[in-house]
Amino acid sequence: MNKLILLIIILQIVNIFASTAPGFLVSCINTNDGSCISCEPDPSVERLFFGDSATNCYVQDCSARPHLLNAYVCKSCFGIVGSFQISGQFYDPAINDCVAQCPNDSIVYQQTCLRINKTGANVICASNTYDCTGCGSSISIQALFTYVQSTICRYTDCSIAPSSYSGYICKSCFQEVGAHTAFSIGAYYYPSTNSCISQCPIGTYPDQSYTCQQVVNYGDLVSCGTAGTPQGTCTRCGSTQAIQNLFQWDSNSNCKIINCSIVPHFYNGNVCKSCYKAANAASAFKIGPYFNPITNSCVASCPSFTFSDNDNICQNYPTNPVLGKNVACGTESIKGGETASCNKCGDIQTTQSLFTYDLKTLGVNCFYADCRTTQSTLNGWICNSCDGVPGSNIPPGIYFNGTTCTYTCNKGVANSKSGYICQNSINLSEHKLNFVQFLLFLCLLF
Ligand SMILES: *[C@@H]1O[C@H](CO)[C@@H](O)[C@H](O)[C@H]1NC(C)=O
Ligand SMILES: *[C@@H]1O[C@H](CO)[C@@H](O)[C@H](O)[C@H]1NC(C)=O
Ligand SMILES: *[C@@H]1O[C@H](CO)[C@@H](O)[C@H](O)[C@H]1NC(C)=O
Ligand SMILES: *[C@@H]1O[C@H](CO)[C@@H](O)[C@H](O)[C@H]1NC(C)=O
Ligand SMILES: *[C@@H]1O[C@H](CO)[C@@H](O)[C@H](O)[C@H]1NC(C)=O
Repeated sequence: MNKLILLIIILQIVNIFASTAPGFLVSCINTNDGSCISCEPDPSVERLFFGDSATNCYVQDCSARPHLLNAYVCKSCFGIVGSFQISGQFYDPAINDCVAQCPNDSIVYQQTCLRINKTGANVICASNTYDCTGCGSSISIQALFTYVQSTICRYTDCSIAPSSYSGYICKSCFQEVGAHTAFSIGAYYYPSTNSCISQCPIGTYPDQSYTCQQVVNYGDLVSCGTAGTPQGTCTRCGSTQAIQNLFQWDSNSNCKIINCSIVPHFYNGNVCKSCYKAANAASAFKIGPYFNPITNSCVASCPSFTFSDNDNICQNYPTNPVLGKNVACGTESIKGGETASCNKCGDIQTTQSLFTYDLKTLGVNCFYADCRTTQSTLNGWICNSCDGVPGSNIPPGIYFNGTTCTYTCNKGVANSKSGYICQNSINLSEHKLNFVQFLLFLCLLF
């Protein structure tokens, strides 16, 4: 008995001097070679266990803490004098340490604390009936889901925030008990911030995959492109590369503006034409389909004495204007009074300004300044001034019948008093004059 005690004391002394603390025997998984390899937490880096068989192994030196632990190490070293660990015989991989008790949110499996996954709610995102392809853009995101059935999957563990998201992750984990705080915000995925969000920001909308997508502001099709297979071009849509790049080829010779909410520094008639009626177009594009190069802006119609070319650009006529004939819609200049004007040549100033006061005759004469331009608003004076003038584009006729220039009024009469507009109501005072003339004529006869 004394000898045994002495032996133990000697062994302890030897141990202390060798500063080793061998652990208790543990039983690991049997391997064919009978070694303790199956006990090792990281056999590629270090060997901790010794023993004569896999079911009879111990940590050779419990005084040194290995970089990686496992349940065998915890169990073998717990309670050993001089052991690096005094915490307990369970292993918690989440903190790579030994613990007396596994955390509340985990279960014990072979002395190891396994976290209970906070499974997310079911979401319909599987694109087949056996895995969760379709629940995310990458394989790594798809692998975070557990297949349920049909096209249903759910996020496997909402307590863990992923490094990259999909809308289905946000949807599956939103408001799940025990979910990571990243999932408390909302059920939509906003790619710009790579996070879940409660509402898609202005300028974006949630698509079917709960992802906030940029609002697309495509323009209408304009046939300024060049057909081609598989891809045409939009090089004819603008004179500069910058303008061409605003367009996207669509089909045949059709191109469209990619984003009508962007107003570039320089643009053209094709841009105006494409964005004029587009949803979400910038206000600069809502004015009209033509481009006025003088003001560098879209306009509802080309200014006076310019015309829209095939590219919707307002162009000046290349040659001298085709002057109209004099018509009596002017006002003479009165000494000390009004200056001469053509303000009786049209109801509105825009029409009046299309006439030029004839300084040669200095009477009531004005002439239409350029009979090549077909204005949206015609009137009798314009018809009268341009009728028979070579090079005129104004419809032939000396009266305006409400639609176009004509030589005869279908209804009513027209004369200088009515501004050469066919009118139903005949001016009575004029009629009276005609009656007086008729009487004079009768007097002359007799
Ligand atoms: C775990 O649960 C016990 C009993 O329900 C409780 O006393 C303890 O505070 C919980 N621990 C944690 C970390 O939540
Ligand atoms: C938790 O999910 C992981 C995958 O993320 C899985 O490997 C593990 O088995 C799950 N744990 C439990 C207890 O279901
Ligand atoms: C369109 O342009 C606006 C303004 O620059 C921008 O906020 C929006 O994200 C763009 N949309 C797309 C689909 O690129
Ligand atoms: C005006 O004249 C044109 C051409 O003759 C005719 O087609 C049109 O119906 C006329 N409009 C009216 C209101 O009389
Ligand atoms: C009729 O003619 C008279 C004299 O020419 C003119 O003063 C008057 O304004 C005309 N009335 C209408 C309705 O055109």
